[in-house]
Amino acid sequence: MNKSLIYLDNAATTWPKPPQVWEAMERVMRESAANPGRGNHGMAVHASRVLFEGRKRLAKLFRIANPNDIAFTMNTTHGLNLAIQGLLKPGDHVIATSLEHNSVRRPLEALKRKLGITVTYVATDSKGNLRVDDVAAAIQKNTKLIAATHSSNLLGSIVPIAQLGELAKRNGIRLLVDAAQSAGVLPINVGEMGIDLLAFPGHKGLMGPQGTGGLYIAPDLDLEPLMYGGTGSKSESPEQPSVRPDRYEAGTPNTVGVAGLAEGVGFVLGETVQAIHAKEQQLVFELMEGLLHIPGLTILGPPIGEERTGIVSFVLSGVDPSELAYLLDQQFGIAVRAGFHCTPLGHETAGSYETGAVRASPGYYTTRTEIVSMVSAVREIQQSLSNRYQ
Ligand code: ALA
Repeated sequence: MNKSLIYLDNAATTWPKPPQVWEAMERVMRESAANPGRGNHGMAVHASRVLFEGRKRLAKLFRIANPNDIAFTMNTTHGLNLAIQGLLKPGDHVIATSLEHNSVRRPLEALKRKLGITVTYVATDSKGNLRVDDVAAAIQKNTKLIAATHSSNLLGSIVPIAQLGELAKRNGIRLLVDAAQSAGVLPINVGEMGIDLLAFPGHKGLMGPQGTGGLYIAPDLDLEPLMYGGTGSKSESPEQPSVRPDRYEAGTPNTVGVAGLAEGVGFVLGETVQAIHAKEQQLVFELMEGLLHIPGLTILGPPIGEERTGIVSFVLSGVDPSELAYLLDQQFGIAVRAGFHCTPLGHETAGSYETGAVRASPGYYTTRTEIVSMVSAVREIQQSLSNRYQ
């Protein structure tokens, strides 16, 4: 681990991870990384148990009654594609928001071309606040799905998922939630929030490794699989089995990754989502407080004091975000993400489409001292660049 690095890119991938995450991965890799569900020998059975333990912990976290309603995926994008491509048919209408990441927008746009579906992107205000009435007004006779991010990966604003769930249920519409920025940091209860499909990453708030994630699929919803192939079950049949999770998990799974993910989820369950969110919230408010005093700096998203996830995106007048991020990295050892964050829609919403932004995203392991260092580094860069232009 590079101890001198100040890592503020947790919205992309959390780092560092709790030690038990990589310890479990190493243990499974060394001792029992056989192929789960593909043999009756002891090691294969142990590998299957690793997967089931991961599913069980995720089910506990998201209040999912049957762990087999969770399909493991490579990442959130994979889960979103399974949901979107598995559900929609020609003629369907979808409501999404102006906060969506390309992982929702691009599959929807592809299905517009391929299947002739139609999509309404309901605009939020420039701070990322969604009005549920605006979503209600966008409902059409053929609306099949509401697809919404739980929290904007640019603005950190939080979408009222439970209200969308209620609206969707009342109108016989399915609700897909992109939990890329919320899994492990905001409470999620699929039943109470009316969520039919929940796509989540393993490598962000759940503290697991990259290459892990999942999709919860409500028990009364049958999706067409995204991939067909070997499952180790019903091998004599040419058809993909209907039994879950096999139906949606063709091919050898990432057992080693899930071993780490299970420990990450165990960590989140132990610390509690509420405590993790409160800690990140405090860090982002301190960061915002410090940055707000820097001349020419504008913070995107909800004002200080309003709920947001651990994301602070900002624009410094006259400074290219990529240059700022480069200087933070090279001169101060601070890792942030600059540019469009795979959400041109989000930038249009915030009015930063022309410039892009710098995004700092503290995580559970970020310290207050690191926040102070970040603020003074941005101030120093601002001062030296403003001297440059004088
Ligand atoms: N979706 C991730 C991000 O916002 C990678 O950075």
